[in-house]
Amino acid sequence: MAIAIDGPAASGKSSTAKAVARELGFHHVDSGSLYRAATAARARAGGESSTWSEQSALDAAQIVSLASTEFGFEPMLDGQKADSEMRSESVTGNVSLVAKMPAVREWVNSIVRRAGSEYDVVVDGRDIGTVVFPDAALKIFLIADPAERARRRLRERSGGEPSAADVEEETRKILLRDEMDAKQSGQAPDAILIDTTRLKQEEQISQIAGLARAAHRQR
Ligand code: CDP
Repeated sequence: MAIAIDGPAASGKSSTAKAVARELGFHHVDSGSLYRAATAARARAGGESSTWSEQSALDAAQIVSLASTEFGFEPMLDGQKADSEMRSESVTGNVSLVAKMPAVREWVNSIVRRAGSEYDVVVDGRDIGTVVFPDAALKIFLIADPAERARRRLRERSGGEPSAADVEEETRKILLRDEMDAKQSGQAPDAILIDTTRLKQEEQISQIAGLARAAHRQR
């Protein structure tokens, strides 16, 4: 069984998907982390991002391997954990460019579909309910006000309360990434839209876990 959680940048998909997977005993698959891993791998190979070819990105992605975690897997680069590199500003700035490449999308989709054929999964991303698992048992589309998304992302990074100027700058970056990702993102017609702007994280987790349990019972 697959549960798809899609939505724009920093809408809380990954943290929610991880918590829902833990509650249900499913595997969590973060498709964005695979696009980030491919981007970090391509950056390691060097050169201006404007010159990166599709084939060079696919070749570079060969250093990506998957390590098992308690509730799924995480991508490694050259056999090493590389979380901060994959979440760095430069990777975040270039990931949309790499994610536009059809060969990279095929590479990610085949990894994600393989996980879905082996386990019950909660998968988060941009096109999971539309392209990767169009028959998912439950599709959620998470949205939140852009400034609130920026605040959450900044708090996650620094732990403290961000300044108004930082929120404004981060909101600009988030909206730019939404725009760059627009082509590869989509809300499935049968997805349930949840606006998390005024929800606590525990509320959105229990709401989605409840919907997932109901979908599971129906199967
Ligand atoms: O930072 P955030 O949680 O919003 O993004 P992410 O899930 O880490 O995804 C990083 C990037 O990967 C996105 O900005 C998209 O360019 C790309 N992506 C995609 O194209 N399709 C997906 N299913 C997931 C991510």
